[in-house]
Amino acid sequence: MDVKKTLLVTGGTSGIGNATVHLFIAKGWNVVTCGRDTGAIAKLQSEFGDDKFLGLTADIRLENHVSSILEETRRRFGLIDVCVLNAGTLGPAPLPPVLKTDMMELRRTYETNVFANFNLMKKIAGILRSPGLIVHMTSDAAVQPYPGWGAYGSSKAAMRQLVEILREESRGTGLSAINFDPGDVDTRMHALAVPDADRNALRKTSDVALELYALILKELEVNQ
Ligand SMILES: NC(=O)c1ccc[n+]([C@@H]2O[C@H](COP(=O)([O-])OP(=O)(O)OC[C@H]3O[C@@H](n4cnc5c(N)ncnc54)[C@H](OP(=O)(O)O)[C@@H]3O)[C@@H](O)[C@H]2O)c1
Repeated sequence: MDVKKTLLVTGGTSGIGNATVHLFIAKGWNVVTCGRDTGAIAKLQSEFGDDKFLGLTADIRLENHVSSILEETRRRFGLIDVCVLNAGTLGPAPLPPVLKTDMMELRRTYETNVFANFNLMKKIAGILRSPGLIVHMTSDAAVQPYPGWGAYGSSKAAMRQLVEILREESRGTGLSAINFDPGDVDTRMHALAVPDADRNALRKTSDVALELYALILKELEVNQ
């Protein structure tokens, strides 16, 4: 009998993470998610019940919240199969040029997109089943020098490279780590970054979740 698989996706309160929670629950997985928005977490919990879903109000920058995420996940579902490091911040908005970027804003952006995600990645590796997979939500701004995207783009680039290197270091170990670029998606973050974008030209979060799901199944199969 197939063991039910478990996904931990950070930032399920909104956007791509929220669509990912919905899709994986519909596909029969156990799902754990976190975010700072208590109301959105409570809404998900009442929608899906306690059996297959665990929602945690947590800030991934805080060490004691990270410990809770790990402990609660372990207690409810045991080991997990996949972690999607989805939670992220745009940083300063409107998007400032590099020389106008405030140092504290740059630090705050790195605090979430690099240090919190790096910390989670290290610790989550300890509760991953083998074969297990870590997916980091990257961006084309990590590789393209778009004017105004200095804080966000450089933070995404740092985390992207940590994940690429982990991927190389983990070959043959049962742990796999990949970057996933969702493209331009119609979310709160995108609206903050590009307020005048044509929303009809943007990807839908549900389509991104489907692509992510297919990628995860493929990656788990390759590492079987
Ligand atoms: N939209 C795009 O076009 C696009 C393109 C490339 C990459 N991405 C990446 O995709 C990911 C999801 O973004 P999105 O577009 O779906 O944006 P979004 O709707 O703003 O969602 C961001 C999510 O991250 C969570 N989050 C942020 N800081 C957090 C923290 N400190 N602790 C816990 N959760 C935190 C938010 O939850 P709370 O507010 O509840 O804490 C929210 O659920 C991000 O990593 C983003 O960089 C997006």
